[in-house]
Amino acid sequence: MRILLLGSGGREHAFAASLLKSPDCQQLFVAPGNAGTAEIATNIDLNPNAFEQVGAFCKEQKIELVIIGPEEPLVRGIYDYFQQDNLKHIHVIGPSKQGALLEGSKAYAKRFMKEYDIPTASYQEFTNANVEEGYAFIDQQQPPIVLKADGLAGGKGVLIIEDRDNAKDALANMLAGKFGEASKTVVIEEFLDGIEFSVFVLSDGTSYKVLPVAKDYKRIGEKDSGLNTGGMGAISPPPFVNDDLMEKVRIQIIEPTIKGLQEQEITYKGFIFLGLINVKGQPKVIEYNCRMGDPETEAVLPRIKTDLVQLLEATATESLHKQILDIDPRTTATVMLVSGGYPEGYEKGKLISGIDDAKGSQVFQAGTKQHEGNIVTNGGRVIAITSFGNTMQQALTQSYKNAKRIDFDGKYYRKDIGFDL
Ligand code: AMP
Ligand code: GLY
Repeated sequence: MRILLLGSGGREHAFAASLLKSPDCQQLFVAPGNAGTAEIATNIDLNPNAFEQVGAFCKEQKIELVIIGPEEPLVRGIYDYFQQDNLKHIHVIGPSKQGALLEGSKAYAKRFMKEYDIPTASYQEFTNANVEEGYAFIDQQQPPIVLKADGLAGGKGVLIIEDRDNAKDALANMLAGKFGEASKTVVIEEFLDGIEFSVFVLSDGTSYKVLPVAKDYKRIGEKDSGLNTGGMGAISPPPFVNDDLMEKVRIQIIEPTIKGLQEQEITYKGFIFLGLINVKGQPKVIEYNCRMGDPETEAVLPRIKTDLVQLLEATATESLHKQILDIDPRTTATVMLVSGGYPEGYEKGKLISGIDDAKGSQVFQAGTKQHEGNIVTNGGRVIAITSFGNTMQQALTQSYKNAKRIDFDGKYYRKDIGFDL
């Protein structure tokens, strides 16, 4: 099978590595990819949001399966673009534009959850037309106040504010365009206290498979301090997610989500990423994403022993119920090496050494590129190191060993991944 994978992060390197294990993967292109995907597949200089170019490439290269890594092309409607006559024979893994609204519009996602009785924080949505009601709503809330830009804001659109007056200022600023169009509508919701975890579901529209659970570490600093990042590490499975909790997730969250999509006739053949929080044994949805997480993918995919190409083909052809998911019971620990200064300003182009010396782990490249025969940094998150262990501690020890071996000027990583588990 000839496959095109869209994206350029550690998530995509991990996808590429898993796809290439399948005897059915005849040719793999990654657009635009990074230095890691260039080593194992063929990078193509295409912007995933330039649908016409992506479509033309697929025709020219006789692509049979397209896998979308990041959310933006999905929210912009790449699935729908591929429904035109000369492209619709190509299988696309990812939801339709309507399905991607679960991530693309927080207000839509909240309405969806309300309609299907899916546990989540109570909320209201506001625009400039009812900003006064927004201020009154803030007065009724117990701080901290959670304000969310409705649309995609590159992971920066959620503000958690301790003080009501500051929250009102933030609401005004958001509605005035702090996050552009994305914050023309703002969701204000109840603050939930608990431990977060990520559940990934692969759905063909009717049946689904629950993939390994993970927990990611979003803050830049140790003990979950400092600014939010794309993700600094992940553990799969997090030990506190027991069968009882997963059964609640399945019955109260996954099943009604799939049923809701079906009832509304929303085409969804792809990954559903449930950002969940465990509030005293009750799982609640913090957010939906319409794709796999990064760095969770780097911890989750290595644990899936089932042929990934077959799994995705079954998704596209609505035969997922015939697949048996085989999961490695061991724990994976992923540690992310980032550029000094990230998530604020950082320099690029730093020479990376030691990748080949990193034994006993899988090294997934994220913000890297090839330059004059070397691999150099090309982003904030640079390299994800994943290791297996019979315990979380073993897996972490191995990843940290290799985190020391791989080096570049300004390298930083959190040394406390898993500290809370
Ligand atoms: P989101 O982009 O919706 O995942 O929000 C980013 C982060 O903000 C989440 O991972 C949580 O840590 C936090 N967050 C979002 N909503 C809430 C909430 N209702 N209560 C507590 N924390 C939240
Ligand atoms: N790791 C969180 C995300 O991918 O959005």
